[in-house]
This record gives sequence, C-alpha cells and structure tokens, in this order.
Amino acid sequence: MTVETRPWALVTGCSSGIGRALVASLRGRGWGVVATARRLDSLADLPPGEDLRLVQLDVTDAASLERAVAACQGLRLVALVNNAGYGQMGPLELLHTDELRAQFETNVIGLQAVTSAFLPLLRAHVGPGEGRIVHVASVLGRLSIPMAGAYNASKHAVVALAETLRLEIGPALAVILVEPGAIRTQFRATLKQAWGDLPARAVGTKYEKVILHYASKREEFASQHGMTAEACAEKIAKAMLSAHPPRRLVVGGDSFWAQVAHRILPAALFEWVLRRSYGLGG
Ligand SMILES: NC(=O)c1ccc[n+]([C@@H]2O[C@H](COP(=O)([O-])OP(=O)(O)OC[C@H]3O[C@@H](n4cnc5c(N)ncnc54)[C@H](OP(=O)(O)O)[C@@H]3O)[C@@H](O)[C@H]2O)c1
Repeated sequence: MTVETRPWALVTGCSSGIGRALVASLRGRGWGVVATARRLDSLADLPPGEDLRLVQLDVTDAASLERAVAACQGLRLVALVNNAGYGQMGPLELLHTDELRAQFETNVIGLQAVTSAFLPLLRAHVGPGEGRIVHVASVLGRLSIPMAGAYNASKHAVVALAETLRLEIGPALAVILVEPGAIRTQFRATLKQAWGDLPARAVGTKYEKVILHYASKREEFASQHGMTAEACAEKIAKAMLSAHPPRRLVVGGDSFWAQVAHRILPAALFEWVLRRSYGLGG
C-alpha cells in the first residue's frame, strides 16, 4: 500500500502504555499510524517506516493541536484514538481546584478538542462504514471508587462525550468507547507524580492512613491481576478493524465483574464493600 491509499489512525499519548502498544498493533494490521506524544523524543525508539509519522501533540495546547492537524494533511486519516490521559487521585475533600481543573483539561477538554479538530479531516477520507473514533475511558467511567473523584468524574464525562458524539455524527464514523480495568502501564507511576504533596495535606485527617496504603495496594493489584498494555491494544485494534465495531469495549475481567457487581448489588452493599476495601470504615 502506498502512503496515499493506506488507512491511517492518529493515536494520542504514545510515549508509553496502551497508546505505545497500539502503534504496533495497528501497524501490524497494515495501517499507517500517526503516533503522537507531548515530547517527540519519547517516540524516538519506535521502528521507523513508511507507515509511521511522529507528531508532537499535547492535547491541552491549542497551538500544538493546530500543528498536528496541519501535519496530517495528505494522509488518508480514517481513525482517531483518544488515549492520552492520567489519574489525579486523592480524596475530594483535599483536592485542589487546580488539580481537578487540570484533570479535566487533559482527560475531557483535551480529548474533545482533538476530536473536533480532526473530525473534518476524518470526514474527508472515510468510505462508508470505515471511520473510527475511539475514546479510551475506564471502568471508572461507569462506576466510582474512593480516592479517585477527579479521575472518576473525568472518565464519566468521557463516556457522556462518546455517547453524545455517536448520536450526533451518524453512522459514517463509529464511536468505540473503551472501558479498561487495571492495565500494566506507567499509569500508576504517573498518578504518584500527579498527587504532589497530597500525603502531607492528609496528615492529621481521616485520610492519612488510607492514602499511605492506597498507591501500594493499587500497584499490587495491577501488577498481579492487570492485563498487559499489548493485550489491551490488541483488543482495541481488533475492535477498530471489525466490520461491526462494538459501541463499548470492556477490557479485563476486573472491569467486567465490577460493572456486573455495580449493576446487581444493592447500592448500600456495593458502597460498603468499597469503603471497607479502601480502609474507610464499614
Ligand atoms: N492503566 C490502566 O490501568 C488504565 C485503566 C483504565 C483506563 N486507562 C486509560 O488509558 C489511557 C492510557 O493510559 P496508560 O494506562 O497507557 O498510561 P500511561 O502509560 O501513563 O500513558 C498515558 C499517556 O498519556 C499521555 N498524556 C498525558 N497527558 C497528556 C497530554 N496533555 N497530552 C498528550 N498526551 C498526554 C502520556 O504522555 P507523557 O509521557 O508525556 O506523560 C502517556 O503517553 C488513559 O486515558 C488512562 O486513563 C488506563
């Protein structure tokens, strides 16, 4: 396939994790990939080829987004994967307004800005039933856990954006909402950076002990039970290439069973289990 005829997908957040793995999964299936990241040097080790473009893109930076759209002119771009995101953890009571705002800037507003900016290019190239817009949400877009209010809220918003977009844009572009459980990526290392001085803020509050145990417990769960980024990316790529792409892609047994439990258990019991498992009392 030439550069002109090959279908291309743009993926945000390819420096690590699911985005990085998806670059290989899509290229392996004959697609061209516009791999984007905040820092271009974080993409330098990707195997070069005619089927790869490296583009700088910070989803919170309008100028960077404008340059990324310009860099994709001339490619037959038929898919967009909104993967970039991070977790701002911490109890809502101790969260700074700026932390909540920053979480939404990246996970929600950035995601929608990228989608709106690339829609004209996608529309110009997609054949019938060919277009794909993928929003990487989370199981935490469907239910909420303690200590993750900002992240829960951002991913619930991503679910709403995907569902609204699907209603508005019509069948030429399928919208796929990805709902992963724990995936082994840089996500947990990044969330520890994002919470800054939170442990100090929690000293003397009811959250002090909870926070101390939170990161290590989540880390432990992910490393013992989490899916690899490669396995997650394969599922996303398969869904993207399906002739009948799913509206929702629940990735991981933990995501599936947590959603089942959320649906069938009485709310009081579901909340009791969560509070106890996070050391917040029964
Ligand atoms: N890992 C999980 O357990 C899990 C579960 C459910 C959902 N998810 C979701 O999956 C997606 C990918 O996360 P991951 O697990 O692969 O974590 P990751 O390894 O930390 O990757 C996150 C990617 O997002 C990028 N990013 C962050 N802020 C950005 C911005 N403003 N502009 C552009 N890129 C930005 C990061 O780039 P930098 O290197 O520049 O920071 C990185 O490439 C996220 O949306 C996350 O919420 C993850």
